[in-house]
Amino acid sequence: MSESIKPSRKITDSRIWRSFFRHGWPDNPLDRSLTMTSNVFFHLHPVKVSRKSLAWSYSFGLGVISVILFLVLVFTGVLLMFYYVPSIERAYPAMNTIQLSVPMGQFTRNMHRWSAHLMVLAVVLHMVRVFYTGAYKPPREFNWVVGVVLLLFTLGASFTGYLLPWDQLSYWAITVGSNIAGYAPVVGSTVREMLLGGQEVGQDALIRFYTLHIALLPVLMVVAMSVHLWRVRKDGGLAVNHNEHNG
Ligand code: HEM
Repeated sequence: MSESIKPSRKITDSRIWRSFFRHGWPDNPLDRSLTMTSNVFFHLHPVKVSRKSLAWSYSFGLGVISVILFLVLVFTGVLLMFYYVPSIERAYPAMNTIQLSVPMGQFTRNMHRWSAHLMVLAVVLHMVRVFYTGAYKPPREFNWVVGVVLLLFTLGASFTGYLLPWDQLSYWAITVGSNIAGYAPVVGSTVREMLLGGQEVGQDALIRFYTLHIALLPVLMVVAMSVHLWRVRKDGGLAVNHNEHNG
């Protein structure tokens, strides 16, 4: 009589299972490395990380918190886009509709606004943490620069989003903000005019801010974040001993 095969073996030997899990249970260093490099989610982490760098009190998870807030902003932002219209006649009434008539509209708007404020805070605190722990030193100096770019994009998304409700607060905040940009030496007035699409905050400015806010900046942020996280992995996880070089 042929030996009966365990049902669990039948599953783990099946083609479907093996298409997901290419290696057996990793019980040696080589298999563990292969598991890390052949799975897209594990691949985000380096093959080895120092135990110290995993401590909450080392990074306070501020980079990860920034990523999560970004994802919340994309999700709630897409929901808001179903109702928002970037027109100077319709933007403010659209905000009223979102607040008063759309189911969970006020909640979605508040989630978007609070996550935006918190993301600016989280990114700044993350930068302070990186500075305080000296994690900007070689080999991580390139990632520091990518981080600075991410900070500028985050502030840009925050600034452009501010105009969209088209209420008195947003109108005057952007008028003041763009005037400040206009005082920059040499390029100031050109930058201001390019940003506003004219001399004052009106329809041309609204459509530019909207396009920057919902398309250009989020796409650039996804690209920069991908490079940033890839570098964290390549530079050897979070820095604890800043003199080591992991290539
Ligand atoms: C959208 C903004 C940002 C996101 C989503 C982000 C995300 C992350 C994540 C997830 C990590 C690994 C975990 C952690 O340290 O908490 C990290 C590490 C790092 N980040 Fe950021 N970051 C952002 C902005 C910045 C800024 C503004 C700087 C500095 C100017 C910066 C510099 C670095 C450096 C140097 C590391 C490596 C830290 C180490 O090895 O200890 N990042 N970032």
